[in-house]
Order: sequence, then structure tokens, then C-alpha cells
Amino acid sequence: MTVNAPGQRVLIGAERALARCDELARITSLEGGIERVNLSTEHKIANALVSAWMHEAGLDTWQDAGGNQCGRLEGREPGLPALVLGSHLDTVTDAGAYDGMLGVMLAIEVVDRIRSSGRELPFALEVVGFTDEEGTRFGTALLGSRAFAGTWDDSWWQLADRKGVTLRDAARAFGLDPDGIRSAARRSEDLVGYLETHIEQGPLLLDAGKPLAAVSGIAGARRLALTVTGHAGHAGGTPYDRRRDALVGASEIIVEIERIARRTGTVATVGRVRAFPGGVNVVPGVARFSLDLRARSDAERDAAFEEIEVFALEVCDRRGLAWLAEEFYRADAVTCSPTLKNAVEQGIRSTGDDDPTTLWSRAGHDGMAVAAVTEFAMLFLRCGNDGVSHHPDETVTRADVVAALDAFTGAVLAVAESRR
Ligand code: HGY
Ligand code: MN
Ligand code: MN
Repeated sequence: MTVNAPGQRVLIGAERALARCDELARITSLEGGIERVNLSTEHKIANALVSAWMHEAGLDTWQDAGGNQCGRLEGREPGLPALVLGSHLDTVTDAGAYDGMLGVMLAIEVVDRIRSSGRELPFALEVVGFTDEEGTRFGTALLGSRAFAGTWDDSWWQLADRKGVTLRDAARAFGLDPDGIRSAARRSEDLVGYLETHIEQGPLLLDAGKPLAAVSGIAGARRLALTVTGHAGHAGGTPYDRRRDALVGASEIIVEIERIARRTGTVATVGRVRAFPGGVNVVPGVARFSLDLRARSDAERDAAFEEIEVFALEVCDRRGLAWLAEEFYRADAVTCSPTLKNAVEQGIRSTGDDDPTTLWSRAGHDGMAVAAVTEFAMLFLRCGNDGVSHHPDETVTRADVVAALDAFTGAVLAVAESRR
């Protein structure tokens, strides 16, 4: 019995996935926008809703000790290792409706299609809606998938959000037991692998005129809090040659960060800048800014940061300023499993594209954490609106979602074929 049933079923599945993304978008802490952060009321409501959708698709569900929403459909016999499908359910602030959520919804649709076809697979299928892939609330990302992968670091419990609530207290308030976090860790022998479908979050597929791509790997990333310290002073009475203006120094560094990134083929973003004390008539004594630095390899990423730091120290020396770099997040570059990537390419071919495109992901994904416990691969689908993401204008077309659902199903069946 074929699983790639007539177009009607896949159309219904794609439309239901899109409608559910819209429903999830309404579960938000942000007036007029989308924000759903780790261990929030919105996280709890979303998990309950996704659990109900998983049930409708025939999955047995549970929430694990890390706050991830999980579901399982047994294979041809109970207790087999699982092929895990999924993505994340949390968002950045003022997010789009598809980053993460669409991947979880499509994973549910794939399981529903395979279950409805009566096809029994040589492995169980699990769907995971990870929490905190973004790190929006506590700064350090991939907390849900790191609990899943068994790479949890207890020092994270002291992380605090902007209101000073620690991760430990937030977990307890959410109903989780911090001391039990390691029960979320999966054993590699219980896993076949991890497949994630995700929007590209860039314009490359749009430019190539392609709806889908197989992912070769995910960029290595570092996030740092950078501080330039000078001396505050009167905006009128302080002569230029006596100033130690932290914000002007930081601005020189920020412009050079982009130059270094462009020249080295890395990707650097300063997303947050603050000047202190922040008075319009006060020379800033302190400037704090964030740095999100990514590259195809960890070596390129780290070499770029070294160049940035050499430049920063030269600026500070020349301007009588002090420099401080504090890293609060690091996830090393990962490569997709050739076997699973091949299955993704077979899935793309099943949609009629006989020359599947391959992209490396500039965006981070849960696969960076899950790779510690099992092999993984990803399917990208095209973003509209010039590829914009992490923005309310994030968009996809129904036709591309249909193609992605077909390809995702085809990829799972290809893994099954390879393990008959
Ligand atoms: O930042 C990223 O690349 C991902 O969207 N969390
Ligand atoms: Mn994101
Ligand atoms: Mn994402």
C-alpha cells in the first residue's frame, strides 16, 4: 500500500500543518506579535495543544523532564529503536509562525500518513517538539535538545532571565524537577536517528528557484557579551582629547566586525547595543553589545573571533578603554549523517526533483545538540519574502509545504527501506 497517497491527503496534511502553525502563533506573550519562551505559560499551553494533535495522529505522548513535548508510534513490534522527527516549539521575540513549529507539525503529519497507510516500519517513530532551541529567555540555547541528548550542564540552573528568575526556579514553577533532568536523556541504542524539516531562513532556495534542499551540516556558533569601558563625562565640557567614550570605541569595533566577517566568509551579527549611563548629555562610560558569530567550521569561527579581539584591543588601547569578552553560548559545527542525508535526497527525488540541492545551514538547529546522541539530517524548505525569518513577515507557500510533506515522508520510508 503506498503511503504517498493521492494528492488530496497530502494537501489536507499540508493545510492542517499550516493551520496549526497559525493556531500556535496565537499562543504568545507578546501583544501584536509572537513570543513563546522556555518554561512560560505559553510553553505549557502549546505543549498541551501539540500533545492533543499528536494523539489525533495516533501517538502516545509525554512531556519529558526537559519540558520537550514527545510522542511515539510503535513499529512493527513494540520497543524498537526510534527514528525521531521534530523541531522546536519556542520562538524568538517578534517571531515568524514557521521557524520550528512547521517542522513539528510536518513531523506529526508524516506519522499520521504512515500510520493511516497501515505500513509497519522496522523502527518506532517519535515526534519531539523541543523547547528552548532559541535561548530567548535565558540566553543559552538548545536547552531542550541538550536535555534530550544527555549533555545537560548543571551550571545552567543559575542562568537568570531579565526579571532575575533562575532557570531552576522557572523549571520548578513550570512543574519540572531540576534534579530529575537527566531522565530526559536518551540512549543512543534506543535511537535510529533524527530527521528535522525546517524553513531555510535565508534567500538561497528562493534565488535558486527550488522548494527543497538537503542540508549538509550546521554552522558552528558562539554568542558573547562584549563590554567596552571608558569614563562617563559631561557632553559639553569634556574636550575630545580627554574623552574615553565607550560607545564610539564600541562603534569602531562593531563596524570592523562586519568587515572581518565579510572578508573571512563568516557570519557576525551585533543584535543588541546599550550605552551607560545613557543620558543624552553624558559621554557614555560603558558600552555593552552582543555578538552572534557563526561559520561553516569551528576553526573559521574561532579565527574570526581572534581577529575581532585583536582589533578591539587596538581600539581600546588607542582610546584609553578597557575590553571584556564573556561567552555565554557555544555550539560547534555539525555534519549531517551521509546515510540520513541520502534518505532526505531520496525524499526530495520522490517529489520529482531529480537533482536535489544541498545547503549548509547558517541558522542553528536542534540537530547541533541531538548529534551528541544520534546521527541526524535535515530537509530545508523555501522561505518567501526574500527569505526573511525571525520576523513576522516569515512566510512559506502551501505548494512548498506539500512538497516538503511528500519529501519528509519519502525520507522516512527511505530510512525504512535501508533497514528492512
Ligand atoms: O539562531 C539561530 O540560528 C536559530 O534560529 N536559533
Ligand atoms: Mn530561530
Ligand atoms: Mn529554528
